[in-house]
Amino acid sequence: MATDTYGRRIDYLRISLTDRCNLRCVYCMPAKGVVWKPHDEILTLEEIERFAAIAVEEGISKIRLTGGEPLVRKGIIGHVRRLKSFTGLEAIALTTNGTLLARYAEQLVDAGLTRVNVSLDSLDPEVFARITRCGRIEDALAGIDAAFAAGMGPVKLNAVVVRSLEQDLLGFARLTLDRPVHVRFIEYMPVGGTAEGECEPGAEGWTRADHVTADEILERLAAEGAAAGLGALTPVQRDKAPGGWGPARYYRFGDAPGTVGVITPLSHHFCGECNRLRLTADGRLRACLFSDEEIDVRSVLRGGTDEDVRATIRSALESKPESHSMRVGTTRGMSQIGG
Ligand code: GTP
Ligand code: 5AD
Ligand code: SF4
Repeated sequence: MATDTYGRRIDYLRISLTDRCNLRCVYCMPAKGVVWKPHDEILTLEEIERFAAIAVEEGISKIRLTGGEPLVRKGIIGHVRRLKSFTGLEAIALTTNGTLLARYAEQLVDAGLTRVNVSLDSLDPEVFARITRCGRIEDALAGIDAAFAAGMGPVKLNAVVVRSLEQDLLGFARLTLDRPVHVRFIEYMPVGGTAEGECEPGAEGWTRADHVTADEILERLAAEGAAAGLGALTPVQRDKAPGGWGPARYYRFGDAPGTVGVITPLSHHFCGECNRLRLTADGRLRACLFSDEEIDVRSVLRGGTDEDVRATIRSALESKPESHSMRVGTTRGMSQIGG
């Protein structure tokens, strides 16, 4: 079992498979001039698997594949199958924009991956196209349907909430009434370019006034839901919540099959319960989303022994900060870190 300096059990590894994406979400990537990492700076799947195998020996039991968009990475199905065969790894999950999921859902399930989180920030096709700068909501919705059809579960949706987007929160919540989908509202985090990075801070034009706290989201949902006859919005106990490894808190309307959740990086820090490490697509190990301190695993994977690789994990555990305190921001954008 791996624990960090503050006694937190670290058993969850987020692996960004690529910095590339087929969308350009305004809060994640600059409109123009996205510079992809050169091929040789991106870890090969074999390198990732070697790292993951050692991480599992060190106590990691859950892996989430992220991006960029992980489904644009060639060979992902075989990768999942190989990871899944590691003794000691309980489960693998995927966070995706969903637009390629209709193509891959069945193969993923066949390879052993059923847990999927799909980013969907608006139910309005025009707003969706505006946020993603080029996405078609039909593709994302088809991906979600395909996930259910292929027998995936739990299926969760991630909606980053931004006031000026005027998202229909109740519309999202209504999705939970028909099928066991778990809609999580995420407080927008100003990441990427907040130190000396490439993109300009606030390049998407959002200001402090655009931040909506989870408390406000829940109040609005409860009031609008009651007015619309959806019943009371009540907290879901941990043992009844959809299985997950991250920081979401869940609620349910009446006896709906699905739940609504909130993720509160800004208003309620969850650092005390943090259980994760992150491996970036270019082979840097990050102990904290909001700390730019990274360990160069790529060089070690390319020139070191397994013991050297093991040492990078131990040193990440040692350097993992107690909390992100007042600093919410990163030099690198989300697409490089993997969310
Ligand atoms: P499950 O709980 O297992 O379903 O997944 P998850 O919530 O860990 O993963 P997902 O990739 O769906 O991430 C949802 C949101 O939570 C994203 O906006 C992430 O950036 C955010 N998130 C996940 N872990 C952290 C964290 O350690 N710190 C902060 N600030 N945000 C996080
Ligand atoms: N703030 C909050 N969530 C974000 N995500 C990407 N960028 C941000 C941000 N700036 C979310 C995506 C995806 C998950 C991995 O991270 O919506 O679902
Ligand atoms: Fe792609 Fe996800 Fe970033 Fe959107 S948020 S551009 S879907 S990686």
